[in-house]
Formats: sequence, structure tokens, C-alpha cells
Amino acid sequence: MPVEARRRAHEDTGRVSGNLLPERTRFPMADKIVLAYSGGLDTSVAIRWLQEQYGADIATLTMDLGGQVDLEAARQRAVDIGATRADVMDAREEFVRDYVWPALRAGALYEGVYPLATALGRYLIAKHLVRIAQEEGASGIAHGCTGKGNDQVRFDVSAGALAPALKVVAPAREWGMTRDDEIAYAKERDIPLDLNKRSAYSVDENLWGRSIEAGDLEDPWVEPPEEAYAWTVSATAAPDETRSMEIRFAEGVPVAIDGEELNGVALIELLNEVAGAHGVGRIDHVENRLVGIKSREVYEAPAATVLHLAHRALEQMCLTKEQSRFKERLVQEYADLVYNGLWFTAHRRDLDAYVLSTQRHVNGTVRVRLHKGSATVTGRESAESLYRHDLATYDAGDTFDHQASVGFISVFGLPVRTQARVQGEAE
Ligand code: ARG
Repeated sequence: MPVEARRRAHEDTGRVSGNLLPERTRFPMADKIVLAYSGGLDTSVAIRWLQEQYGADIATLTMDLGGQVDLEAARQRAVDIGATRADVMDAREEFVRDYVWPALRAGALYEGVYPLATALGRYLIAKHLVRIAQEEGASGIAHGCTGKGNDQVRFDVSAGALAPALKVVAPAREWGMTRDDEIAYAKERDIPLDLNKRSAYSVDENLWGRSIEAGDLEDPWVEPPEEAYAWTVSATAAPDETRSMEIRFAEGVPVAIDGEELNGVALIELLNEVAGAHGVGRIDHVENRLVGIKSREVYEAPAATVLHLAHRALEQMCLTKEQSRFKERLVQEYADLVYNGLWFTAHRRDLDAYVLSTQRHVNGTVRVRLHKGSATVTGRESAESLYRHDLATYDAGDTFDHQASVGFISVFGLPVRTQARVQGEAE
């Protein structure tokens, strides 16, 4: 290839073109598009809309990440609407192993509070959309995101990272239809819909959490009504009795509860249920979206709340001060990156390598008490703990050399005394 052509082939001006191209006319006559299909109104309409607008065959992918999806019903509906291939998969284990645990080990909480459930799920869906597109020789993938949220960014940027030649189509970003328009469109074409499930909110859920937005929550002053919540009870409705749970970690990942070893999916499901029943895991947050909008977000994440708390408590025992301090700085970077669509990047892989290395000795057990909406660490133990009783104790058995402190303080305080002598005493 001539130098000039090679340069052009690699150039990306950042203009809206190439794989973010919205104009339908410039989409090459697509043989096939693989659509992320939830079974709801938007993506059901999208199957037919994509066929009509792009003249393409549509393959669909419906994934169970621990939300309440009926995989068989979704497969049937996709076929009924006209999909030529309708994949469904239970991807809960892969989700936990490859996305949730890395985020937990990193301590990733966006803006200090959001455990990133929705964000993490998008990456796994994107990965499998791309896989199927490659299997099918499809020229594009499609998703149901609108043009205002973060999820479109996560899908589009991930597709660019995994298969830069694939086109990405987001029908809801293009078609300009209201909900009523969509229903009319579906009726005209006999598209089977299940409109009974409509909630007053926009909800996305998977094992790691439930995201609730829109409706009356758009007023940040409005207290979220109880109907907005599905996984947690209110603190007042929670039982008066406390419940303590012992969570054992191996290399920063939880492996057992109250002595019983559980796989990741079962462990998270159990914690969601038990902590949710004690009113733990409600998060009400005004969040900074990547697209520059502030939005009021309500989350339910009982397992994530308890596990982040317990994991941190164990790290306090097993990491040095310097490791803790440095990791603390990294956490924000990591959470921002996950939130901002940048999972499939070298930067994330590099940060993961550091995080993984910090977790080698994060082994032990943490006791957490659940009571009326709060989760509190009440104990921790680890064979690799850097907390030494013989050094910490004020009782008999103290092995700390008290006299050594005198010399230490003399050297440590030297610059302070020097400054006082030369520049004047502190006020
Ligand atoms: N704000 C969260 C995020 O960007 C949750 C988005 C939830 N999406 C939804 N359809 N309710 O990750």
C-alpha cells in the first residue's frame, strides 16, 4: 500500500463518520446486522425497522446477566418478528468472573457510590454481539440505546475496540419515534408486543444491581416511592433483628458465606436476597453522565454494597499503607473508565494488572452486620494480616520497642525544628 493510502487507512479524524455514521444511505448494503434484543418494545420494533431501513437480515442476541429475562420467550418473539437467527444465552458466570470480580477487586464505585452494574453488563453484551457478527459475516451490530445516555457510548466504543470495521446502528437514536409512534408502527406490522410489563421507570438490572431512572425520579427533590424498588425493603420495614454474615475472600474475591463455599453467581444472589431483606443497598445519586448531563439515578445493589464494604475492610488488614493509598488513587480512574465506555482498552488491562497484583494476599474473612438499612463491619481476620497484636497491644505481650521511637521522632521532626529555628516558630 502506498504511504499516503496507509496513512489514510489509519486516520480517524474524530468526525462523525465511519463506524458511528448515522446516515442510512451510506451504510453498505448490509447482509446482516446483529441486534442486542431485550424482548421489549424498542428492540422488538427495531428488528423490523432495521430490516426495512437497511434491507438486512437481523440476528438477535438476548442475554441473561441475572435480570428477569425470559430467554425462551425472547427467542420466540424475535423469530416471530422475523429474525433469521435468535441467540439466547445465560452469561451470568462469565459476567461475574470477567467483569464483576475485577470491578470489585479494584473497588470500582463511580463517584464513590455506583457499583457500575449496568455499565459492566454492556461490555459483555457488546463482546458477544461482535462474536456473532463475526460468525455470521455480518457488517454491523445494533443496540436499543438512545442518544442521551452512557450505554450507547459503551456499545459503540467497545465495538470499535473489538472489531473496528463493524458498523454500529442505534435505531432509537435515528428514528425519532415517540413511544406511541413505536406502538403504532408495531400495530401496522403485526409485531407481537408484550406491553403489560410497562413500569413507570426505565429499569436495567443484572446480578450486580438494579438501575432505576426517569418518571417521577427526574425531580431530584422527590423521594423515590417504594414502588420504584424491587430488591430492597425500606429501613423501617426491615426486621428489628440483626443478621451477621461471615464472608470469606480468596485473593480479593468472595468465595464463601458463613463457611459455605458458593460460586460467584450463587453468592451474589444470596447476598442480594439477604441484604435486600434488611434494607441494605439503596443508592440515590445525582450523577454526571459522560454526555454532559446530570441525571438523578436510583440504584439497588445489596450484594455489591456489602461486598465492597467487606472487601475494603479486608484490604485494610492485608495491604500496606502505601498500597492502600496508591490503590485509592487508582480507584477513581478505574471507575471512570468503566463508566465512560473504555473497558476494552489497554489502559484498563494495565490497571487490572496492578489491581490483581495487590490482591495476592487479600485472603481472609470479614463479618458484616445487617440491620435496618445499614451494613457494618464488625470483625475481620486473615492469616496474612499485617495487623500484629504483639505490636498493637497496650497490654502484656507488647513487643514494640518504645525507646526506638525517640530516635525516629528526632529524625522525623528534624525539618520542622529546622524551619522553626531559621524562619520563626509556628503560631
Ligand atoms: N446511569 C447508569 C449508567 O449509566 C444506569 C443506566 C441505566 N439504564 C437504564 N436504561 N435504566 O450506568
